[in-house]
Amino acid sequence: MVLYFSGTGNCLAIAKKIAAGTDERVMSLYEGAETDLSQEKVIGLVYPTYYFNAPAPVHELVKSLSISKDAYVFVVIPCGAQTGNAIWSVARILRSKGVSVAYCHKIRVPDCSAIGFGRDPNVQKWKFDKYAYRLAKIISDIRERRHAHHFGAWGLAGWLCSQPWMERKTQPLLQPAVNQSLCIGCGTCAKICPQENISLVGPAGGKQTGQGNETGSTALIGDKCAQCLRCVHFCPQQAIEIAGKPTLKQHQYHHPEIKLKDLL
Ligand SMILES: Cc1cc2nc3c(=O)[nH]c(=O)nc-3n(C[C@H](O)[C@H](O)[C@H](O)COP(=O)(O)O)c2cc1C
Repeated sequence: MVLYFSGTGNCLAIAKKIAAGTDERVMSLYEGAETDLSQEKVIGLVYPTYYFNAPAPVHELVKSLSISKDAYVFVVIPCGAQTGNAIWSVARILRSKGVSVAYCHKIRVPDCSAIGFGRDPNVQKWKFDKYAYRLAKIISDIRERRHAHHFGAWGLAGWLCSQPWMERKTQPLLQPAVNQSLCIGCGTCAKICPQENISLVGPAGGKQTGQGNETGSTALIGDKCAQCLRCVHFCPQQAIEIAGKPTLKQHQYHHPEIKLKDLL
């Protein structure tokens, strides 16, 4: 079973490729955390790097997994450049459950957070061709049940970023917020938020469901944001912005093989 967490589709696309190449199935980590996986002989985790660490929901979801101590466990981390502590923080959680990670590898992909710094993630699509050989090697290693840890030496950055004072400085850098003058209340963001953290607020301030109401309601982001930036990249009005900077349509990104419906 290959479990994934994905905002803009890089991790889902890679999880799907690994699953296809190793005859495994794909499941979201959210579903995996509510499923009895104790009979699975192979467990894969594919999740992104956020701030040189694993995304906060990944830590929480991994704590809830029910997996066998005898399973062959691998971790693959798609990242823009450096994984920092993204592997080790999760390996530690698994170790506390008596499960050890047999194999881990990072793979470089377009960095969806570039949009938050006024840059276009789409210009990084060259990484798919450049690192295709690595994904092929990862798949063949997993098929052969290899034991190896391939990681970067940026653990110090990961440790630093996970310090509360540093988190307070870094997290606002990529915090999405709704520009109410652009939002038409179509509800796309509410439907696709993996944390179910976005609701539509009606003209009178009453909460509505994400059903595409275009009568003056706007989206409201709650306090469980994972900063996956899916809402920023998929908003058809470019109404979800980061740090108050306008979101440019040409900077919106998702993995080319993953469509909106795959992420619902
Ligand atoms: C909030 C945030 C923080 C990120 N921090 C890092 C980082 O520290 N190092 C890195 O290499 N990539 C970083 N990235 C890039 C993601 O790891 C990369 O785009 C990943 O492929 C996203 O996966 P997804 O498309 O499945 O959501 C960050 C992305 C986001 C949204």
